[in-house]
Amino acid sequence: MIKLDLTNIVDINELKKYQNDVERINKMINEKSGPGNDFLGWVDWPVNYDKDEVSRMIASAKYVRENYDILVVCGIGGSYLGARCALEAIKGLKYNDSLEIIFMGQTFSPNYVAQVLEYLKGKKFAINVISKSGTTTETSISFRLLKELLEKQVGKDEARKAIFATTDKEKGALKTLSTQEGYETYVLPANIGGRYSVLTAVGLFPLACAGLDIQAMLDGAKEARELYDSNDISTNICYQYALTRDYMLRHNKSVEMYVTYEPQMSQLSEWLKQLFGESEGKEKKGLLPASVTFSTDLHSLGQFIQDGTPLLFETIINVLTPNQDIVIPHDEQDLDGLNYLEGKDLAFVNQKAFEGTLKAHVEDGKVPCAVIYLDQMNERNLGHLFYFFMRACAMSAYLLEINPFNQPGVEIYKRNMFHLLGKKGY
Ligand code: PA5
Repeated sequence: MIKLDLTNIVDINELKKYQNDVERINKMINEKSGPGNDFLGWVDWPVNYDKDEVSRMIASAKYVRENYDILVVCGIGGSYLGARCALEAIKGLKYNDSLEIIFMGQTFSPNYVAQVLEYLKGKKFAINVISKSGTTTETSISFRLLKELLEKQVGKDEARKAIFATTDKEKGALKTLSTQEGYETYVLPANIGGRYSVLTAVGLFPLACAGLDIQAMLDGAKEARELYDSNDISTNICYQYALTRDYMLRHNKSVEMYVTYEPQMSQLSEWLKQLFGESEGKEKKGLLPASVTFSTDLHSLGQFIQDGTPLLFETIINVLTPNQDIVIPHDEQDLDGLNYLEGKDLAFVNQKAFEGTLKAHVEDGKVPCAVIYLDQMNERNLGHLFYFFMRACAMSAYLLEINPFNQPGVEIYKRNMFHLLGKKGY
């Protein structure tokens, strides 16, 4: 279901030189003995997850779908990107469903927040507020506003039934409020950090509400867990990918450009940017993760990738079979000269764009390119892919001797902002 092609980026024999590192780090991951080891709960999660909680989520999702028109998912960073990525990657950017999903809590933008609140006025909506700490400012402000609107529209008792909270099992402001108000709650386990939490209730509850098969997603992740804890570099494509990234960094590449050929996968790139950027970008080390969507961006950044400063390599995620397809019709006049494509489908054209671009970038542009092939984008493959990248990220960061599970750098802006906002103690 997932294949990695390294032909145009590195010789596998170069990767085999990492054998000792792979054995050492893989042991650290499995035995949870490396830096940040109390945040390795995601490693065995596809096997250890709380089965009762998953059943409860599926039942509540049915209730949400039957009783509301909109679900507002309120969270930021790791408490936001995974659900949005999966929703778009599988359902697409335009679709009809009885339940609309809206994301909020990921910005201070007065325009966005006001627009969403205005849109929700008079509508039947539920809220899934997601925050491990329960104190993240963007999420807390949005939730306060959403809760106020909901309580005004339906009263406190009905509002309580429409609010679902995903947070720490025991502590934090959101946990306290949920207990006080009697909200249905789901757990973001203490030993799983935000950007590694997509396969917990953080991602799964909103996705179940959207009608996705969350069990298949967990099954895909379980398959990945079985495949990728091997030390065998010649077969473990997850570690091959991690080692390739490290090899690129040590061979003068500083940017990893994620490439997709599907606009509905641009949020997968956003999830990847957070996962790798926040896990590795420390101590003046790490690759800068960036992203493009082709062929759209071949008409903008394509020029730089082909001909500009040679600082990047590409990781292309190519989904071979689209969930939908369209055939190019015949036109009597053929003024646009497209009749040579008549009867061909867009998947064919998109694949030829991929092949032509790969050749241009590798042969002419001398841009190293790794390609990850997926047969199709569905829940199972996406669950597999999430696990693939999380495990690769842990291996990559440990190769750089970095703790993949903290984010000390993000506290500095918060400190300054709180000081400027006049928060007590800052
Ligand atoms: O990956 C992370 O840990 C962060 O991106 C967090 O998920 C993000 O800051 C949101 O935190 P919280 O869930 O505590 O609101």
